[in-house]
Parts: sequence; structure tokens; C-alpha cells
Amino acid sequence: MSDEGLRISLSRIDEERFGIITAKAEGLTVENIPDALKFCKNNMVRLLMTRCPTHDLSVVQEIENGGFSLMDTLTYYSCNLRKNPPPGYTSEIQIRPFNPGEEDIVKAIASEAFDGYLGHYHADARLEKAKCDEVYTDWAYKSCLSREAADEVFIAEMKGRVIGFGTVRANSADEGQYILAGVLRSYQGLGVYRMILVNCMKWCVQKDIGSIITATQVTNLPVQKVWIRLGFEPYCSYYTFHKWFDWSQDGSLKRP
Ligand SMILES: CC(C)(COP(=O)(O)OP(=O)(O)OC[C@H]1O[C@@H](n2cnc3c(N)ncnc32)[C@H](O)[C@@H]1OP(=O)(O)O)[C@@H](O)C(=O)NCCC(=O)NCCS
Repeated sequence: MSDEGLRISLSRIDEERFGIITAKAEGLTVENIPDALKFCKNNMVRLLMTRCPTHDLSVVQEIENGGFSLMDTLTYYSCNLRKNPPPGYTSEIQIRPFNPGEEDIVKAIASEAFDGYLGHYHADARLEKAKCDEVYTDWAYKSCLSREAADEVFIAEMKGRVIGFGTVRANSADEGQYILAGVLRSYQGLGVYRMILVNCMKWCVQKDIGSIITATQVTNLPVQKVWIRLGFEPYCSYYTFHKWFDWSQDGSLKRP
């Protein structure tokens, strides 16, 4: 349960992408669920997305009863970089910071790597698949252009061809985050993802950042194997729920 109370707001980026009024809520409790639903009614929200800690079963069961549907489960890992410094490696694959002008290449890699990816957008059958793919390609593109999305984007290059990317951010003076990464299908299984992560860990160490966190869908086992081998440990998990509202013109909910 969050101590900070309900935080709910309209998501303009999702509204622009999917063409429906969308809201995101955090900090739901059994007591404040009616406030969240009232916000949705007042704003004619069609889709509400929320994340709940998996240990908060009373909230989870309450919102399940309220017609929310489970879309994904996120698992978070952290690594103490002072105890687990990034290892060295040798490879013909080069990892380097991205250069301005390469944002379309990064976007193209994300487009292939995240095609049909099972995040909470793709899991919602009412959202158009091509638009769900755009969530990741736009995120990768923006990561190259805006410090709000990432502080650094690393590129993996083999024989002059860019084959993967990964993004990292400093969340605070002592916590980094490995955010988004993708590798072209024909180059998967060669350790490219691991090498990009090792370079993101080094990036943190160079900034004297003592820990790095990362998160993924619990079903994404390839990346969790890499994390565990590098000294990451799981520390929390969240369910993502979606609730759809079909409003009648008089502001009441249509019967399903
Ligand atoms: C996940 C992903 C980044 C892994 O990239 P990669 O360079 O192949 O990863 P690595 O080579 O470092 O290998 C990671 C492990 O996963 C395995 N693996 C890689 N791709 C796999 C796949 N498609 N299916 C099953 N296992 C896979 C590797 O074999 C390796 O395990 P192993 O050492 O036991 O053999 C890549 O598959 C991808 O782009 N996926 C889609 C996007 C995504 O999931 N991004 C990460 C979350 S933001």
C-alpha cells in the first residue's frame, strides 16, 4: 500500500496514441478506489491503467471485483555495484554511446525487437497492436533525444552494423536504472544484451552511483537470467491492471 495516497492523472501521450481518454493511477487503496472511479467519471475516462504492489492482495481483489483486468506483472531487480562491480569481457561486438543522428537506427531496432512484445499494452485486446508497438519504438526514439527518457543510450555494433541498444538513467545520486534494451533477432543469444548492461553498470560506477535497478515482465526470463548472473537480486513486483469504461451519453456506464 502506498503511503503517498492516490495519484491519478490523465495520460495525454496515451490519449494521442490510442485516441481515447486515458488515465493512470498509483497508490490505490481499498478506501480510495471510489475517488479514482469518480475522477474517471468526471473526465469521461475510457481506459484507466494502474499498478499495484503484488503483496497488496486486498487492493488487488477489490479492483478485480470492480472489473479491472490483469495485463502484466512487473518484477524489479537491483544490483549493489560496490559488491558486484561490472565484469570485464572481450568480444568483437563494440558497445559505445549513441551518436546524434542515429535515433532512427535505434527506433528501427526497437521496432523489430518489440514487435508483439508482451507488455501491458499488447496484453489488452482492445488496443490496436500497431499502436502498442509504437509505445516502445517512440520510447526508444525519445530516449535518444530527451534527457527525461534516458541519460545515455548505448549502441552495440558488429562489423559496422548497429545490432542493439540499451538506455540508462541516474534516478538519484546513488541509483541508476537500466531502462529499455533491444537486440535484432538474428543477433540474439550472442550476449549483446549482457554487454550493453555491463556498460550501463560501468556508466554508473564512473559516476560513483552505487546501485542499479531494472524491471521487466515476470515472463521475460532471458533478461532475468542475465541480471542474476551479474549479481542482481529481485526486490519487488507490481501487477498492471486496465479498466475500461463504456459511458452512455447521460454519463452512466453502459451495461456490458
Ligand atoms: C531480451 C533481449 C534484449 C536479449 O538480448 P540478447 O542479446 O539475445 O541477450 P543475451 O545474448 O545477453 O542472452 C540472454 C539470455 O537469454 C537467452 N535468449 C536470448 N534471446 C532469447 C529468446 N528470444 N528466447 C529465449 N531465450 C533467449 C540467451 O540465450 C541467454 O541465455 P543463456 O545464456 O542461458 O543462453 C532480446 O531478446 C530482445 O531484444 N527482446 C525483446 C525486447 C526485450 O525483451 N527487451 C528487454 C526488456 S526492456
